[in-house]
Amino acid sequence: MAFARLSAVIAFAFATVQVAKGSLIKRITCPSGQVTANKACCALFPIVDRIQKDLFDGGECGEEAHSALRLAFHDAIGFSINGTGGGADGSILAFNKTENAFRKIDDITDRQFPVFLETGLSAGDFVHLAAAVGTGNCPGAPRLRFFFGRPPPKAAAPDLTVPEPTDSVTAILSRFADAGFAPHEAVALLSSHTIAAADEVDPTIPGTPFDSDSQVFLEVLLKGKLFPGNGSQPGEVLSPLAGEMRLQSDFVISQDSRTACLWQNMINNQTRMTRQFKRAMHKMQLLGQGTLTDCSDVIPVPKPFAGPIKYPASFSQADVQQACVQSAFPSLATVAGPAPTVAPV
Ligand code: HEM
Repeated sequence: MAFARLSAVIAFAFATVQVAKGSLIKRITCPSGQVTANKACCALFPIVDRIQKDLFDGGECGEEAHSALRLAFHDAIGFSINGTGGGADGSILAFNKTENAFRKIDDITDRQFPVFLETGLSAGDFVHLAAAVGTGNCPGAPRLRFFFGRPPPKAAAPDLTVPEPTDSVTAILSRFADAGFAPHEAVALLSSHTIAAADEVDPTIPGTPFDSDSQVFLEVLLKGKLFPGNGSQPGEVLSPLAGEMRLQSDFVISQDSRTACLWQNMINNQTRMTRQFKRAMHKMQLLGQGTLTDCSDVIPVPKPFAGPIKYPASFSQADVQQACVQSAFPSLATVAGPAPTVAPV
C-alpha cells in the first residue's frame, strides 16, 4: 500500500515534469524568424530594433540608455499602495507637459517622444520596453524582463513621488514603502546608479558619472575628497575621485544602520546585485498594471561584466567608511597606477 502510494506520487511528479518541460520548450517562430514564447510578442522584435537604432545609437549603453532606465523609475514610482498614481503606465511620457513641471526630465521625454510615436506602442509599454532594452546594452546588467500590454495611462502621476538626493533616509525609505518596496528592494534598485551620471546636480559638469566602472556600491563608501565641478551643490557630497559625483542620498543610505549592510553586501557580488535588481525592477515595471503578456525573450542578452570589483588605483580598505558592523568588509585588490580621473559620459 505504501509502495503503491509512493509510485502514484512518482507518476504524478513525472507527469508534472513533462508538462513543465512541455511549457518550457513551447516556442513560436515569428515571420521575422525570431523565436518567442508568445505570438503577441512577435510585433516587438522590429520595435526593439527601431529603439536600438533611433534611440540608443545602434545598441549603446550611453546616456540615452541610462536615461531610459531613470525614466522608467520616475514613471513607475508615481504610485502609492494607498491608491494614487497609475504606476508603470507611461504617464511620464503621455502627460509629459504636466509631469515635467515637477520631475525635470524634459530632455529625456523630448528625445523619446518621436521614437515612441513611431512604434505605435502604448506609452507604458514604450517607457518600460525602452528601459529594459537600454539596460541590456550595458555589460554586466541583468536581462530585465518585459511584460507587454499596458493600456494608455489615464492621468499624470501626482507630484512629490520621486525621491530627491537631498532627502533623508527615513523620507526615502518611506516613499519606497508607500510604493510597496522594502529597504532591501530600494537598495537593489540603486544598482541602477552603476550606469548613471548627473547633468543637473551640477550643470557646469554635465554627464558626470556616479562611479568609475560598475562599482557604485564600493565607491560611495570611499572617503570623500573633492567636488568634481563648481563646488558643493544641493544633493551632492564629497566624492573620492576626480570626475566622479557622489549623491548625498546614495551616501546616507550607505551609512544608515537600516541599509548599510544591504549596501555593503552588494560589493563584489555581481550575482546578488543583478538578481536582486532584476527582481525589484520587474516589480517596479508592473506597478499598477493588470495581467500582461510575458515578452521577456524580446530583450537582448547583455554582455557579462569582466569583474572582479577592485579599488580604484591608489585606494585601499583604509579609505573605506564602513558602516555595516555585522559583517566583514570584502577583501579586494587595487588597480595599479595613479588615481584615475573618471571621464564624463
Ligand atoms: C533614493 C532614490 C534616488 C534618488 C534620490 C536618485 C537621484 C538621482 C539623481 C539626482 C540623478 C542625476 C540627475 C541629473 O542630475 O541629471 C540620478 C540619475 C540616475 N538615476 Fe537615480 N535616484 C534614485 C533612485 C533611482 C532608481 C531606483 C533608478 C532606477 C531603477 C535610478 C536610475 C538613475 C539613472 C539610470 C540615472 C542616470 C540618468 C542619466 O545618466 O541620464 N535612480 N538619480
